[in-house]
Parts: sequence; C-alpha cells; structure tokens
Amino acid sequence: MNNFTFYNPTTLHFGQGQLEKLTAEVSKYGKNVLLVYGGGSIKQNGIYTNVVHLLKSLDINIFELSGVEPNPRLTTVHRGVEMCRSQNIDLILAVGGGSVIDCAKAIAVGAKYEGDFWDIVTRKASATGALPLGTVLTIAATGSEMNSGSVITNWETKEKLGWGSPFSFPKFSILDPAHTTSLPENQTVYGMVDIMSHVFEQYFHHTPNTPLQDGFCETILRTVIDTAPRLLRDLDDLEQRATILYSGTMALNGFLSMGVRGDWATHNLEHAVSAVHDIPHGGGLAILFPNWMTYTLDANLARFKQFAQNVFDIDAVDKSDRQVAEEGIAALREFLVSIGAPSRLSDYDIDDSTIELMADKAMVYGDFGNFKKLTREDVVNIYRMSL
Ligand code: NZQ
Ligand code: ZN
Repeated sequence: MNNFTFYNPTTLHFGQGQLEKLTAEVSKYGKNVLLVYGGGSIKQNGIYTNVVHLLKSLDINIFELSGVEPNPRLTTVHRGVEMCRSQNIDLILAVGGGSVIDCAKAIAVGAKYEGDFWDIVTRKASATGALPLGTVLTIAATGSEMNSGSVITNWETKEKLGWGSPFSFPKFSILDPAHTTSLPENQTVYGMVDIMSHVFEQYFHHTPNTPLQDGFCETILRTVIDTAPRLLRDLDDLEQRATILYSGTMALNGFLSMGVRGDWATHNLEHAVSAVHDIPHGGGLAILFPNWMTYTLDANLARFKQFAQNVFDIDAVDKSDRQVAEEGIAALREFLVSIGAPSRLSDYDIDDSTIELMADKAMVYGDFGNFKKLTREDVVNIYRMSL
C-alpha cells in the first residue's frame, strides 16, 4: 500500500434521538447562527420545527437561508456569503442532504475569502479559512457530512465542479436514521447508488497489497446490496435506514482512501452530465458506472475478477478471468435495475446532441482518472455507450 496521512476532525453523533446533542454543539460557537436548508422537505417532515425548537432554547439569533437547490448553485453560495458578512454569522448550520451541506461548506469558506468564491472552486485561489459549520443530515448519500469535499454548479457557465480544503470539514454532524425515513423511493435509490459509487471510485486502483482496504470496500458494497431490497420493501424500517446511513458516511469520509489512490473518473463524467442536464447525481452514476467498468476492464482484469467474486459471489470454476469479470459487471447492472435505478441517459431524455458539450465540461482540467486515464475520445465513447 501507499504511505498516507489521515485527517478527519468531524465529530459524529449517530443514531436515534441524537438531535438532542445540537444545543451543546451550537452553544460552542457564538450568538449568530445561519440555518441553511433546501426546498422545504425539512418543513414537511418536521425536522425544521425540531431544530428551531432546540435553537430557540439557546440565547442566539437565528438567520435563515432557504431554497438551496439539488446540485447547489453558485448564486446561492453568493447569497449566503453576503448574509454571513452582513449579519456577522458565527456558525453555519446546514440541515439537509449533500446539496445543502456542500452549499454551506462553500458559504463557510467564501465568507473568509475576499474575492469571488468561484476562484476557489476553479483553483485560481486557495481557501484561507472558514466559519465553523455543523450539519444535520437528512439523506444517506454523499458522505459530505464527514468530509471536506463540496460540489458547486455555476449555471451560467454550465460547470459543476468539486473542490475541498482542510477548512471545510464540518465541526460536527448529527445523523439520525429517523431523519431519512421521509425520503421518497427514488431519492433513497439515488443515495444508495452514490454510496456504492464512492466505494467503486476507491476500490478500482492499481496499488498492490491492500487486503484491508479491499475488505472494507467489499463489505460496504455487500452491505448495501443486501440492505437495499429490504429497505425498499419498507422505507420506514429504521434498522435498514441506519445501515445505509452509516454506509454512506463510511464510504466517503477518507477511511477507504487510506493507502490507495482512487480513480474518480466516473464522478467527473457524471458531474459534466449534471452540469448540462441538471439530473440527480445518483441517477447519473447508475447509468455511467457499469459502462465505465466495461470500458476500462482491461486496465486491470484481476481487480474486476476480485470484484465479481467477492462482491457478487460469481463462481470462477472453468471460466476465464474476463468471463468472471464480465459476469460481475452484469450482476451489478442487474442489481441496479432491480432497485429501480435508471440505466440509460435516454431515461433522462438525453440524446447524442449534447455529448460534445458534456465532453467539453468533463475535460475542463484535461485527461482524468487514475485507474485508466480518460482522453476526450474515451469520454465521448463512454457517453455513447450510455445513451
Ligand atoms: O431540497 P429539499 O427540499 O431538502 O429536498 C431534497 C432534494 O430535493 C430531498 N430530501 C433530502 N432529504 C430529504 C429529502 N426529501 C424528503 N425527506 C428527506 N429526509 O432530496 C433531494 C436531493 O437532495 P440532495 O441534497 O441534492 O441529495 P444528495 O445528498 O444526493 O446530494 C447531491 C449533491 O451532492 C454532490 C452531488 O454532485 C450533488 O450536487 N456530491 C457531493 C459530494 C461530497 N460533498 O462529498 C460527493 C458526491 O459524490 C456528490 O458529487
Ligand atoms: Zn457521488
């Protein structure tokens, strides 16, 4: 395995009733709190009422930024930065999914940066600090609750780009599986696909001798595959919700990347699709990942064989390595269809007319991917396979 340095300062409060920790956490950070949330789901499911009730028991001022979009936009980040400056905000509290948390991270860092926050996303400038950020997570998917990453869309330029900094880890995150039971079936599926995709990104690498890392990855994948049908049979099942919630955090809080170099090409491919078509991240990944796998199979056949055997129990007797590997990818496709995930770009009415534009967006930093370096031609080929 490779050398590594691991850093993750986020305090995690996990489980039913953990929202009660909110007051002790918030009271560490001063009087002015900016509550950031999305399009209203937290008002429908009662989380907003519970959070505000707890905050009101403290001697603090609450300011609100609502309407953060799924695939959060730069314009909303600007609004939040402006509020932080004008209201002297001491703590940002994000209540919602990955989009709300990502937007809040951008606001936290943007508030401490003199120039335009987009400079940080586009790597023209580095983050210099951040306001403290806490989160109450309402969807198991991105891992944003315990990592320093964030993805922001500039709708004017049709760019959706990831960024991160040592300052953008949440100080604390509260994860109660009961907060995720109101998630509709499609969002639940997208979340599970995203979780699996984060594992894929870190599992498909060429670093030799990583048995512990491989085991962590394979266990998360098998757990999601096993839990998904049970959860979809009963979306209120708190035990299954908890398993998926914990899987989501563990899939992208840095643990799986220790000692290996992940790929991340498929995420880049998906972000370009979302940048142009504003589709759900997990939906895009469900379409692209099996095709990326088929396309890159020969970069490391042994790895795909291991995936097939250890994740999908594919029998290797009397079969070539390629056959076993291909059966693993086919099993993944079958699983994704079985949980109702989309399988073609045409499911989102995307046809070949925007492939070149999406490829432009994907290539913004040049060739990408560590498992197999993708050129523009590769990108176009994978999009075509996915139509
Ligand atoms: O906006 P509201 O009304 O809250 O509704 C949301 C939204 O419509 C709804 N929702 C969330 N919790 C709910 C709920 N509805 C009912 N009950 C609840 N408990 O679900 C919809 C999707 O929410 P969103 O936050 O967009 O989903 P997700 O958590 O999947 O986040 C997706 C974003 O995160 C980025 C994606 O690219 C995308 O922009 N990512 C962030 C990463 C990171 N920071 O590490 C990594 C990921 O790979 C990903 O790229
Ligand atoms: Zn993702």
